[in-house]
Amino acid sequence: MHITPQYLYQKRREFLKLGIGALVSSTLIGSKLSAFNFIEDKNLNNLKVSDEELAINYVNFYEFSTDKRKAVALAQNFNTQNWKIEISGEVEKPIILSMEDILKFPLEEKIYRFRCVETWSMVVPWIGFELRQLIEKVKPTQKAKFVKFTTLLDKNQFPDQNALFPTIDYPYVEGLRMDEAMHPLTLLAVGIYKKPLKPQNGAPIRLIVPWKYGFKSIKSIVKIEFVEKQPRTTWQNYAPNEYGFYANVNPNVSHPRWSQANERALGDFFTKPTLMFNGYEKEVSKLYKGMDLKVNF
Ligand code: MTE
Repeated sequence: MHITPQYLYQKRREFLKLGIGALVSSTLIGSKLSAFNFIEDKNLNNLKVSDEELAINYVNFYEFSTDKRKAVALAQNFNTQNWKIEISGEVEKPIILSMEDILKFPLEEKIYRFRCVETWSMVVPWIGFELRQLIEKVKPTQKAKFVKFTTLLDKNQFPDQNALFPTIDYPYVEGLRMDEAMHPLTLLAVGIYKKPLKPQNGAPIRLIVPWKYGFKSIKSIVKIEFVEKQPRTTWQNYAPNEYGFYANVNPNVSHPRWSQANERALGDFFTKPTLMFNGYEKEVSKLYKGMDLKVNF
């Protein structure tokens, strides 16, 4: 199945008309896919982008290992060829997309702050497209209230999935409320630092939700389902009192075992105060009006 060509054709033209599409990368994703075009982020907020080597190699990817350095090493031979993403559930037009289909969405660079629940942070130039563009294509039904995301389950490729006692429940599952998923900041990322995603960063496609703790930004996605009920996520299963469904970055709500008031940017010696909604308060606080963020953490 393919994305409606007419839609793509029009999008491409709009994109080209802007005249700022840059042909930047010629790196291959898998064997078939070649260069991708994207609109560069002008970084109007003057965010200090993290050093590339630091950012791409400081990872959490439990399927490979809970040890950050081992995870990078073990991810290097990750095979993402013939990757498919199933988009299903409460939608009028379920679809299975290849990465070739995915790369036809108009790609943009987005320089976002990224804050891990472990209190480290970075600023990353992602390349991707707004999740809402995909959502609009599949036409969710009235019943679709949440979006559930699932990572690949492959014991041959992921050592921790094959362990006698896996660290967490697999496959890794995350979820968003529909309005969060439709928010223009919510990105499906296929690239990082102007190149396709590295295996350790969630190749070939991952979610980025910059106002939430990093664990919401699920890697190596194979399924996106529209559901009626709030999905149970991997980290909620692991420790519901420590990792809530919303997981909005909030310096006023401590993790039961440590404060979230400050963070250390990769490469920095000193810590700095963490910003409400990770600095995206103006854009997203309206989504949570009237909600008690201490209870719904
Ligand atoms: N997605 C999967 N499938 N497996 C994981 O272990 N770790 C999460 C998130 N997405 C994780 C995942 C956590 S805890 C964080 S902080 C970010 O990915 C880290 O992204 P990075 O490794 O690209 O910095």
